[in-house]
Amino acid sequence: MPSVTFIKQELTIEVAKGSNLREVALDNKIDLYPLFGPDPFTGMPFPAKLLNCRGKGFCGTCRVKVNDHRALSPLSVREEKHVAWEGKSYRLACQTQVLEDVEVETNPRKVSGWMDHATYQKMKEIA
Ligand code: FES
Repeated sequence: MPSVTFIKQELTIEVAKGSNLREVALDNKIDLYPLFGPDPFTGMPFPAKLLNCRGKGFCGTCRVKVNDHRALSPLSVREEKHVAWEGKSYRLACQTQVLEDVEVETNPRKVSGWMDHATYQKMKEIA
């Protein structure tokens, strides 16, 4: 059975292979959501703890950073939209299944700004 280590909470949990990372976190009272997250449509802050999409992959607020992306299921289409531009270590917990031992950082800081976003990079290429 793979284990999931939540770094900030200093908690390691053994889970069944294929377990959903969001469900593992919520079942163990891990606080996944920031108090305020960016609205997926406007980018303005909104209360993510209350108004997240409940695991549907639309809001992007369950974003986590992992030590080894190969220990998780392949990137989903919704993750491509929300977190792929930040690098392979960033995932949406609700779209991710645990396949092997992994370390998870909840509510990670953004490593880059909007100028590194793939959409902006494409705009620069066109211009
Ligand atoms: S809970 Fe909204 S994207 Fe995961």
